[in-house]
Amino acid sequence: MWLSRLTVNHCRIIASTELELAAHANVLYGGNASGKSSLLEALAVLSRGRSFRTPRIAELIQRGESELTVSAKVENGVAGGSYPLGVSKGIQTTRIRINHADVQQQAELSSHIPLTLIHPGSVELVTGSPSLRRAFLDWIAFYRFADFNQAWRNYQRILKQRNTCLRDPKQRYALGHWTGQLITLQPILYRYRVQALAALQVDLEASDGLLVNLGIPHLQLSNGFPGNIDAEDIAGLQQFFRQKEEQELKQGFSLYGAHRADLHILLEGVPAVRVASRGQMKLLAVALLLAQSHAAADDAAKRGIIAIDDLASELDEQNQQALYNTLRTTQQQLIITGTHHEPLRNRFADARVFHVEQGKASLR
Ligand SMILES: Nc1ncnc2c1ncn2[C@@H]1O[C@H](COP(=O)(O)OP(=O)(O)OP(=O)(O)O)[C@@H](O)[C@H]1O
Ligand SMILES: [Mg+2]
Repeated sequence: MWLSRLTVNHCRIIASTELELAAHANVLYGGNASGKSSLLEALAVLSRGRSFRTPRIAELIQRGESELTVSAKVENGVAGGSYPLGVSKGIQTTRIRINHADVQQQAELSSHIPLTLIHPGSVELVTGSPSLRRAFLDWIAFYRFADFNQAWRNYQRILKQRNTCLRDPKQRYALGHWTGQLITLQPILYRYRVQALAALQVDLEASDGLLVNLGIPHLQLSNGFPGNIDAEDIAGLQQFFRQKEEQELKQGFSLYGAHRADLHILLEGVPAVRVASRGQMKLLAVALLLAQSHAAADDAAKRGIIAIDDLASELDEQNQQALYNTLRTTQQQLIITGTHHEPLRNRFADARVFHVEQGKASLR
């Protein structure tokens, strides 16, 4: 897929703007505070239901307005057709439309728009908490495997119930039931993640131009249990949870399982966060995110979107060059922002260029 049109209303500085996007490269340039990041935030709201800069939708809604709206026209590359979709968000309300029909779930909207965002905070994929890396891997599983989302949602529901049982003595009678349910889903989520990781690894090796100096990291999945516990051995898990019951009751929440998994990023056997320079970690995060975008599709004809906010400020000249070389060969739709258009235009001669000024994007 790709987006041939993006319309944004009442998102931060953007009162109303519309972009007719090109199928491949799009460049948005403009001065500080012109609204470039706001546009990408709006795109993130469409694809994920939230911005990459804040979890609070209230901050995104233009001052004085009650809701923001983002809509797009999706070109379905395979079948050749196109359809509209969009979302309006107020502080308490969300309305989603896909092809003129109301839709309840953000996940359904997300499934139409595989957006990978690279922005100044992306380095946290390497430096930040395991939850970011779980979400990163689960994103691939979400797009590759139709049943992943249902399993993931079930897991969240069961986890919540089980935590209530651990915390509240009145609910304790149901602990055994919810532990059983939690165990049942361990091998399922683990296998999805193993497969997502395998796809990621293939695509990471393909983008090795970016990592020539650093080397390809070794990615290791931990399953949320101590090292010797196998997430696919149901009997072993039952025994493990019996042993840990006292400890979990004392803590009042579930200490083990898929919700505690992590993706370890190792360079020569050592966590990257302990050996790599800041710039190297940024590069690593960028390489992982590009690989994520490509890994989301199980067949090469499917395309996603890669949006990059303010890349020039993140990498040195040589690494920027390596990144642009990689991006030039990608099949994904690109939306790239920067404060100056010459450097971007030189690198993407065929890009469609938009100038962003006071929250309005106009074709140059
Ligand atoms: N809720 C809001 N309503 C109106 N304006 C807002 C709101 N939130 C932020 N702004 C303003 O919108 C602008 C946001 O600009 P944005 O971050 O999109 O700029 P940018 O083009 O990415 O700039 P830079 O090059 O500095 O990254 C800022 O001037 C900010 O003060
Ligand atoms: Mg910005």
